[in-house]
Amino acid sequence: MSTYTNEFRRSIDHPEAFWAEQARRIPWFKEPQRILDYDEANHARWYGDGELNIAYAALDHHVEQGRGEQPALLWDSPVTDSKRTITYREMRDQVASFAGALRDLGVEKGDRVVIYMPMVPEALVAMYACARLGAVHSVVFGGFAPHELAVRIEDAAPKVVVAASCGVEVNKVLPYKPIIDAAIEQSAHKPDACVIFQREQHVAELGQRDHDWAALVEKATPADCVPVKGTDPLYVLYTSGTTGKPKGVVRDTGGYAVALAYSMDVIYDVAPGEVFFSASDVGWVVGHSYIVYAPLLRGATSVVYEGKPVKTPDAGAFWRLIEEYRVKSFFTAPTAFRAIKKEDPDGKLLAEYDISSLKALFLAGERLDPPTFHWLDDLLDVPVIDHWWQTETGWPIAANLHGLEPMPTKAGSATVPVPGFDVQILDREGEQVGPMEQGSVVIKQPMPPGCLTGVWGDPQRFHAAYMAAFPGYYLTGDGGYVDEDGYLFIMGRTDDVINVAGHRLSTGEMEEVVGAHPAVAECTVIGIHDALKGQLPVGLVIPKDGFHGREVELEEELIALVREKIGPIACFKQVLVVDRLPKTRSGKILRKLLRNIADGKEFGIPSTIDDPASLEEIHEAMKAREVGAAHDARQV
Ligand code: COA
Ligand code: AMP
Repeated sequence: MSTYTNEFRRSIDHPEAFWAEQARRIPWFKEPQRILDYDEANHARWYGDGELNIAYAALDHHVEQGRGEQPALLWDSPVTDSKRTITYREMRDQVASFAGALRDLGVEKGDRVVIYMPMVPEALVAMYACARLGAVHSVVFGGFAPHELAVRIEDAAPKVVVAASCGVEVNKVLPYKPIIDAAIEQSAHKPDACVIFQREQHVAELGQRDHDWAALVEKATPADCVPVKGTDPLYVLYTSGTTGKPKGVVRDTGGYAVALAYSMDVIYDVAPGEVFFSASDVGWVVGHSYIVYAPLLRGATSVVYEGKPVKTPDAGAFWRLIEEYRVKSFFTAPTAFRAIKKEDPDGKLLAEYDISSLKALFLAGERLDPPTFHWLDDLLDVPVIDHWWQTETGWPIAANLHGLEPMPTKAGSATVPVPGFDVQILDREGEQVGPMEQGSVVIKQPMPPGCLTGVWGDPQRFHAAYMAAFPGYYLTGDGGYVDEDGYLFIMGRTDDVINVAGHRLSTGEMEEVVGAHPAVAECTVIGIHDALKGQLPVGLVIPKDGFHGREVELEEELIALVREKIGPIACFKQVLVVDRLPKTRSGKILRKLLRNIADGKEFGIPSTIDDPASLEEIHEAMKAREVGAAHDARQV
């Protein structure tokens, strides 16, 4: 039996023994005796009686073990022309001081703190400071508009909001204070206080509720680590679901710490003292897991990058960082490399750098499309590893286990299930399908440590969204198949979630915004293929009877509305005003058919369609407006 197969079987056949062994990777205050329990809904709970503090495990512990002078973070910010190295000792001390400052504002174990910050070290300090106090952080990505921030503030009901005075994008400074003020104004819940970290690129004017980060820290006394239970929540991270309201994914502490420490070893093959670079953002799950927590739990060094793959200053940025910081393992989204490939198709800039430290490249966030895989595979001398995961799981479900037993790669496949994840493919009736047959990708209970333990404040939604479809299985929302060699191919979402430039968005949410415009009678938003960003949203809108305005103006208003309500990150830039939408006789809009037309695929007229002529009209409208590859679509 191969090393992988042996490890995988042990994890599935004897989960308690397997995860009891992995728990030794973490310095617990009180080692867990009960490894696996089930809650009332029969969902796995790991390490319930263990006690730990993840800030202690990731910082204080390493200082005590003699890593105090090793860099914990290497911050590199081409957009502000700054760099900083922060050692483990400095990080521990800054975290303890800021935790003291939060405590002075009344933050205690179990309280929520919303963090709205760009890629600055203080974002990580704030997250760890919450963890130190046993408070629950909820980080909101900086590209979200006030309305999105408001929805999260209202749901998480934080005592304090921590923010920076601004974010910095390529050639533009984005003041955050107006966004925060507008969000708090819109939210029914009002936090007691806001802490603002002032950046020199834009100094915010502070109001009554606001406190200056530096002034608070100056008068605070450092706080100690508060022990929490293995099952106590570390954070809530909101992610797009199928409805307008994002889901607050709840992450526990003990299971997450163990899963991350395990993954750094068997997947990423990073040892203490080595350098890991994940080019994501602290606002996404990849940032939480592989910029903030996993590298430091492992005693490694994490590169924190405030920049883009291109234009800061050019498509050689990642190669420069790998050379400068001697990065061993690098992780980003395929879209970042598609952007690089567009600007530097032959990878000429790579020749200017020495990237011999690099031992593996990891990609996730969306499917690694075969052309991008081959481009990278030809360019680099290291394994190019696609691995599949979700905000909900917190760490990879399928990967090539580079640190355990590397396997041959197959373009388009995320390789094999990671130990702990009993991945199966089911048909509509819940029966397992054979090799090469597509179906719903599910995970048989119990989910391994590290995965979500609930939806914040909404146990019903947790059950309905993930557990109800196939009892005993977690529904991933992805479709895919397994080939004859057991390799897993993830082919895309089976719901209304789309993936734009590695960012997860909900077309349902965009439909709610568009549908709320007074001139709109009916609408649908679909995700169509895009060569750079993977997918882009396109809106199709029927105006109300009596609408006599100019269509182009309505389209512009709708684009502006989505930008205002959801944020620029939605990339909602194309709307078509149409007379009819193709529907089934029961009134369901034929979204998949619309997607196929926009993607230039062959399409037939389904027998269930109510109004066949509507399809022809939409096809013509898409061709005329150059939507996607609609000009190539053919009716069969
Ligand atoms: N704060 C505020 N605004 C932000 C933002 C942030 N953190 N991130 C992006 N935006 C804005 C951008 O400025 C842009 O605004 P614009 O419409 O005014 O130009 C808009 O949101 C869309 O951004 P994006 O989709 O990132 O497009 P881009 O053209 O700026 O960059 C890529 C394209 C491919 C280079 C970029 O999307 C990228 O690096 N993607 C990788 C994503 C990633 O790592 N995801 C993590 C998952 S692992
Ligand atoms: P997020 O929760 O933002 O991490 O997005 C999760 C979704 O992104 C998954 O459900 C998939 O649809 C998609 N995804 C992430 N990584 C991959 C991958 N390696 N291959 C295919 N799809 C992926």
